[in-house]
Amino acid sequence: MEKKIDISNHIKIKSRLPAFGTDRLFKRLKKVESRSMHGQLPIAWKSAKDFYVYDISGNRFIDFTSTIFVANTGHSNQRIKKYIQRTLDNDLLHSYVYIHKIRVKYIEKLIKFAGRGFDKAFLMSAGTEATEAAFKLMRMYGQKKNKRKLGIICFEGNWHGRTLAAQMMSGNINQKKWVGYTDKNIHHLPFPYPWKISDDGYESFLKKSIKKLKKKINLKKDVCGVMIETFQGWGALFYPKGYIQMLKKICKENDILISFDEMQAGFSRTGKNFGFQHYNITPDLICCGKGMGGGVPLAGVIGRKEIMDLPEVGNMSSTNSANPISCSAGLAVIEEIQKKKLTLQAKNKGKILHYELKKIAKSNKNLFDVYGKGLIAALVFEKKIPKIEIKLKYLVERCINDGLLLVYTGRESIKLGPPLTITKDAILLATKIIKKNINLVFND
Ligand SMILES: Cc1ncc(COP(=O)(O)O)c(C=O)c1O
Repeated sequence: MEKKIDISNHIKIKSRLPAFGTDRLFKRLKKVESRSMHGQLPIAWKSAKDFYVYDISGNRFIDFTSTIFVANTGHSNQRIKKYIQRTLDNDLLHSYVYIHKIRVKYIEKLIKFAGRGFDKAFLMSAGTEATEAAFKLMRMYGQKKNKRKLGIICFEGNWHGRTLAAQMMSGNINQKKWVGYTDKNIHHLPFPYPWKISDDGYESFLKKSIKKLKKKINLKKDVCGVMIETFQGWGALFYPKGYIQMLKKICKENDILISFDEMQAGFSRTGKNFGFQHYNITPDLICCGKGMGGGVPLAGVIGRKEIMDLPEVGNMSSTNSANPISCSAGLAVIEEIQKKKLTLQAKNKGKILHYELKKIAKSNKNLFDVYGKGLIAALVFEKKIPKIEIKLKYLVERCINDGLLLVYTGRESIKLGPPLTITKDAILLATKIIKKNINLVFND
């Protein structure tokens, strides 16, 4: 028998939605803020605590977005607030060219958290800076070996940020039209989508991709690095484990570095400290952000000493690198993960989430499948359904009206990623709301 859950323990919708005043805020922003920032769903946040979000009328929602996988340790986490407050009380908001104690403590902690094979880190503010820095480091590495070793291998459908190199490495062709040229040293391999290859078909799939690439270039002489999104974002699609292991072997044989873009996968989201650990390999570089700062702008690249020390003094640095507030938040995030065993929590609660979602997928022909690991999941719908993106936007809006926030991807998927502190009750309630609204939207 299905367990009865008291909705009012979690969700409180006491006004009309969107809350009074939301439209006005949207209108005011539209006037003064660049259009590129818009397209948000119709809700104005007032506050967020643990896995709840409150709008400007005080309505309470369950958050399955974690503000796009940032609030892994829960919104407004007490430890993060305390550490930031301590830094504020010490009157240290910035120091840049001068060092401070928290910077030392945090980077030491971060390296340990990343595990064996990592000795150094470089901190900055945005995820796109991290992938940009990894791009630079991989090219510097190649240049040191041989002037033509400039090639970077990336993947179709992957995404790495909005700055120049990040967009050139991403698979989205429309988004990078503004660049005005293509870098002939950036090569995109086809992504091994689960619907394209069988479980053991990855080997021939990768061999075929590499063979095609080798017709154009020499791997050893022309390629310095590979950039991999740990799972392809929109569908939470992981690679077959053997595929990554084989790719790593090819890289080793050809003196090519592997960077993992852990923006969404890092900091325990997938049930491991970092998502690459699912593949049983150690990358040369990891790019992180989002959950790293628990809500405070913090990003970074972690890697081996000989790669991280390639840039000269001052050649890889930024005014806000290792800001004391960000380092305090980063330190609190790691301590919180360790003290509350959030990695294990993500793994265990992820099993409940995926079990419930798989049940929904099995009973609904419009749903193609469910992907992801731990507390990241994507419901991928049948692409051929007419106007599927519009239907899914409507689905997400209906869920908001029922008190549940989801990630609208703009494609044939919706994504779920609650704070890792979410409870079993809230997971069951959320999946119930999703199921009800899928049935309403697709069977109307
Ligand atoms: C996989 C991935 N890489 C890079 C980025 C860029 O991070 P940021 O938005 O912090 O620049 C994102 C952001 O969504 C991401 O999901």
